[in-house]
Amino acid sequence: MAEMVRKPRLLAKLHAEVRSKTPKGQQAVKKDDLSGMAYLKAVVKETLRLHPPVPLLLPRISMSSCDDVNGYAVPARTHVVVNAWALGRDARSWGKNAEEFSPERFMADDGGAAAGDFKRRDFQFLPFGARRRICPGMNFGVASVEMMLANLVYCFDWELPDGMREEDIDLTEVFGLSRHRKEKLLLVPTTPRDHASTLHARLIMPRGRLDSCLGNVDPVVAT
Ligand code: HEM
Repeated sequence: MAEMVRKPRLLAKLHAEVRSKTPKGQQAVKKDDLSGMAYLKAVVKETLRLHPPVPLLLPRISMSSCDDVNGYAVPARTHVVVNAWALGRDARSWGKNAEEFSPERFMADDGGAAAGDFKRRDFQFLPFGARRRICPGMNFGVASVEMMLANLVYCFDWELPDGMREEDIDLTEVFGLSRHRKEKLLLVPTTPRDHASTLHARLIMPRGRLDSCLGNVDPVVAT
């Protein structure tokens, strides 16, 4: 949400997709609706590329020696820590705009890095790790994030609080058990006028459910 609010054009594109692909009159996005939402999936992938919650994968031990890894000889039984965060921002794989949040790169259907399957074997995109130690919760994790994001944008329009500009959003991250944003994101949810089903959802959504749905997003004003 932080990346999208910094680029309202992308947020508008996501809104349009999620609202057009959800059957009319439905109060919330359901699991079956997600399969038609290609841009939503691209947004989630782009988020995991730039902000992997687990930036350093589980430590490995090399099984055999390698004579030349970028000019270094790596003996067998060396502890290896893979930096998935750095791989996701490497300009050799992602081009000059590697540091830019651009979900469109995952809409390309050219089979290159941009195609962005979580289980590709060329190791440019490893938000869930790879091979035997790959995250067993991957499908559950992706489905949960897609479902939450889809419903956030389906039910509400999101604006910055008065006086705050897009460039004021601080994307600084901190390390913990996983990597996460340092500052909370404060946004103003509004109900879109032309979106009758959303209005209904908003009126019946109990406060507790709204909180659990929003996670790290703080609604500061509800108008
Ligand atoms: C978006 C959400 C998630 C992300 C980005 C994520 C990422 C990761 C990563 C990078 C690893 C290390 C893989 C490697 O070193 O190759 C991992 C391991 C693991 N993840 Fe996840 N994960 C997520 C959600 C989940 C969920 C929902 C569960 C459980 C329900 C889960 C359970 C595990 C477990 C048990 C391991 C350790 C696997 C092992 O020891 O071999 N993860 N995860």
